[in-house]
Amino acid sequence: MPSTSAGRETFGSRLGFVLAAAGSAVGLGNMWRFPYLASEGGGASFVLLYVAMTLVMGIPLLLAEFGIGRRGQAAPVGSLRALGGPAWGRVGYMFVTAGFLILAYYAVIAGWTLRYALDAVANGFASDAAARFAEVSAGVDSAIFHVVFMLLTILIVVGGVKGGIERASLLLMPMLLLLVIGLALWAATLPGAREGYVVYLKPEIGELLNPAVWRAAASQALFSLSLGMGGMLTFASYLKRDANLPQSGTAVAFMDFGIAFIAGLTVFPVIYSLGLAGSVGESTVGALFIALPGAFEAMGFVGRVVGLFFFLVLAVGALTSTISLLEVVTASVMDELRVSRPAAALATGTAVAALGVLPAMDTDVLGLMDKIAGEFMLLAGALVLSLFAGWRIRDQLGEELLAGATAGWQRQVPRILWVLRWVVPAIVAVVLAFSLRGTLAAVAEFFGGGVPFQPG
Ligand code: PHE
Repeated sequence: MPSTSAGRETFGSRLGFVLAAAGSAVGLGNMWRFPYLASEGGGASFVLLYVAMTLVMGIPLLLAEFGIGRRGQAAPVGSLRALGGPAWGRVGYMFVTAGFLILAYYAVIAGWTLRYALDAVANGFASDAAARFAEVSAGVDSAIFHVVFMLLTILIVVGGVKGGIERASLLLMPMLLLLVIGLALWAATLPGAREGYVVYLKPEIGELLNPAVWRAAASQALFSLSLGMGGMLTFASYLKRDANLPQSGTAVAFMDFGIAFIAGLTVFPVIYSLGLAGSVGESTVGALFIALPGAFEAMGFVGRVVGLFFFLVLAVGALTSTISLLEVVTASVMDELRVSRPAAALATGTAVAALGVLPAMDTDVLGLMDKIAGEFMLLAGALVLSLFAGWRIRDQLGEELLAGATAGWQRQVPRILWVLRWVVPAIVAVVLAFSLRGTLAAVAEFFGGGVPFQPG
C-alpha cells in the first residue's frame, strides 16, 4: 500500500491537522444541539451516556477514518477502492453524497448566524425574537446569507490544505476556544446562572435507562465528531506516516466534548436569568435563534456586545465545519476527475450553494434534509465504516494505527480493533433501525403536509 503518494498535499504541522479535525467536529452541533439534548434527556445522565458513546463508538470510528484516509491517501471513494477494491469504492460515493447534502442545509443555518451577528452591530436584536427568526430563517434573505457563507467556505478550500484549511484552523480554533470560555465566565455572573446550570445538568437517573436518550446520545456522538461522511478520512489522507493517530483522535474528541460542555454553561444561564425557559422546549432551534436573541435584547447594550460575540462564535465554529464538508466533495472530484483544486472547489461549492436555496426558502425542507442526511446517512456511513474497518481491512488498519504511535498508545490498538469489529456495528445497527423508521415517517409527513421543524 502507498505510504505517502508523491505530489499529494500535506498538512504543515501535526497541530494544524488536529485543529482542522477539531474544527470540523466543533460546530453548530456543539453550541446548540448538545446543550439542548442534555436538558431534554436528563441533564447529567445524558452527558454521561454521551461521553460513553464517544468513548465506545466515537473515538474508534474516528480512528477508523483516520487510518483509512492516511493509508488510502485519497478521499473516501479512492481510499475505499485502494484498500477494499472497486465495489467498496462505489460505497464511498455514499459518503460524498452525505457531505454534499449536509453542507447544503448546514450552510443555511450558518448563514443565519452571520445574519444575527450583523443584527447585533446594525440595529440591535429585535424585540420580537420569534418574528425576527421567521423573517431571517426562510426566504430570499436566508438564501443570500447562505450563498455568502458558501463563498467564504469556497475561498478557504480553494486555498488548499496548508494555505487554506490549516491556516484558517490555526487562526480560528484558538479564537473560538477563548471566546467560548469568555462567554461561559460572563454567563456565570448572571443572576439566574444557578437555575440554568440546574436545568442543564440536573441528573435524572431514570433517563439512564431510556432507549430514546441512548439513541440521541449515539447519534449526537456521530454528528458532533463529523463521522460517517468521510471528512475526517479526507483530512487524514493529507498526513504523513509519522503522526500519532490514536493520540490525535483522542485529543480531537476531548476538544469536541469540552467545547460542547462549556457551550451549555453559557446557553442555559443566559436563558434562565431572563426567565425565557418556555421558549427552549419548543425546538432545538428555539433555544439558539429565538430564546438567546430575546435574552440579549432584554439585556440592552451589554446584550448587544455579548450577543455579537456569541453569534460570531457560532459562525466561526460553523465555518470550520463547512470547510471539511466541502473538502470531502472537492477532494473526491479532484481524485476521480483529475481536475485542479480551484476548479473542483468552485464547481462543487456552486452546486451546493444552488441546492441550498431550497432549504433556505423553506425550513421544512431543511428539517427533512437533516433527518435524511444528518442523521440517517451518517448512521449508515458509520455502519459501513465499522464493517469495513473491523472485518475487511482489520490487519491493515491495525498496522496503520500503530505507525507513528508511541508505545502507550500502541497498546490500545488491539482493543480499538476489537471494538470496531464487534461493538460498534451492533450499536450502530440498532440505532440505524430506529432512525430508518423515524426518517421514513418524516418523509411521509413531509409529502403529506410538512414536518415539524426540528433540525439537528
Ligand atoms: N460536527 C459538526 C458539528 O458538530 C457537524 C458536521 C457533521 C460536520 C458532519 C461535518 C460532517 O456541528
